[in-house]
Amino acid sequence: MKLSVIGCGYLGAVHAAAMASIGHDVVGIDVDQRKVEALAKGIAPFFEPGLPELLTGGVASGRLRFTTDMTAAADAVVHFIGVGTPQSKDGYAADLTYVNAAVDGLLPYLKPGDIVAGKSTVPVGTAAELAPRVTATGATLVWNPEFLREGWAVQDTISPDRLVAGVPSAPTGEPSAEGERAADVLREVYHPAVAADTPFIITDYATAELVKVAANAFLATKISFINAMAEIAEVTGADVTQLADAIGHDARIGRRFLGAGIGFGGGCLPKDIRAFSARAEELGRGESVSFLREVDAINLRRRDRAVQLVVEALGGAVHEKVVTVLGAAFKPHSDDIRDSPALDVAVRLRGLGADVVVTDPQAIPNARLKHPQLTYVEDRDEAIAGADAIVVVTEWDEYRRQLSPQHASTLTAGRIVVDGRNCLDAAAWRAEGWTYFGMGRP
Ligand code: UDX
Repeated sequence: MKLSVIGCGYLGAVHAAAMASIGHDVVGIDVDQRKVEALAKGIAPFFEPGLPELLTGGVASGRLRFTTDMTAAADAVVHFIGVGTPQSKDGYAADLTYVNAAVDGLLPYLKPGDIVAGKSTVPVGTAAELAPRVTATGATLVWNPEFLREGWAVQDTISPDRLVAGVPSAPTGEPSAEGERAADVLREVYHPAVAADTPFIITDYATAELVKVAANAFLATKISFINAMAEIAEVTGADVTQLADAIGHDARIGRRFLGAGIGFGGGCLPKDIRAFSARAEELGRGESVSFLREVDAINLRRRDRAVQLVVEALGGAVHEKVVTVLGAAFKPHSDDIRDSPALDVAVRLRGLGADVVVTDPQAIPNARLKHPQLTYVEDRDEAIAGADAIVVVTEWDEYRRQLSPQHASTLTAGRIVVDGRNCLDAAAWRAEGWTYFGMGRP
């Protein structure tokens, strides 16, 4: 099928490349000339495992191209909207400027029978508001949220857990004939996942939009729940990692996303829960999700706690102490530093006068652009050399598995390690003479 993908960031670039890899003829369209040039050469503008191979393969096959020219969408029959919906500058609500611009830019090229599939995370009610403009061209709008995780984006796009399509409804509330047809077209687009019996859930617009924000709200709540338990563990001497293991054995709870530490960040969870609160307020139901304010507050307190631990570990002051921060990305397997708890901790320590050295396997270029005041060292061992304390804030394998306390001891005389992700073997580090501090564990 001929597809267009409007917006070639983390979501759109992966979607375009993945769709080409399953046999479609895809054009990716973005306003950013530099990004388009890189993608057209098969170069990924950000770190995402598996993406470079898909890009080069797609471009070489002739089934994948990138352009800044919206007229290229005219040939396509399904158009995906994958632009960003960042937090607005003046509040918690999502900024829909890019979604509106993408849809308006696309309108002149739509033909009767085309499908416009919104993938961006939007406040509930957005699709209903956009639909009349799309319908006026004879095309159909569907909302088809994306659940990809950075670091696993390729796999999540080609083999998702589930597919959700919010389609136009008939007055009965059931999908209209137009909605049924749109769902059939999407089934054809996602043919390998459909053939593999991936659940394909057809809903109305509002439900599809809410599925996405509800999923992210749930995940954020799960993380903040365990971080709240970490706060209680800290005043009782309990160990939150054992607690998480024990409650996680209950299949109704599950161990995943019960990793206590410095909390969640990135381009999705923080802004999505804030936008959800803002939208619920607008709808007069702010109280229904008022707990999300608490989820956000708990999350941000864990960054304070990590900084406090480093200060305590260094005897009450970090001034002129060398602190090596292991990690800058908001999570491993990513070079994304948007709302990164790791970088936030680094910046705060530097603000307290510490001599902060930051290292990360992928995120240094992005971190340097945003926080040029920090010192960056690419080589992990060189970064650790001479540190008074080391602080693990992103659980890359390079720190979690491949850095032994024996080896670290050869690099520095400082014997303090703060484990902001509870990812190290505390006993092994202590046995080697290190003073170990975890988050919510003794
Ligand atoms: C998230 C959702 O998982 C995904 O479905 C959605 O489409 C986009 O938002 P992503 O932002 O890539 O994906 O990251 P995710 O793996 O969910 O991690 C988010 C943050 O939570 C990271 O900062 C991570 O370090 C943190 N986290 C995760 C924890 O602090 N503890 C955990 O147990 C799990």
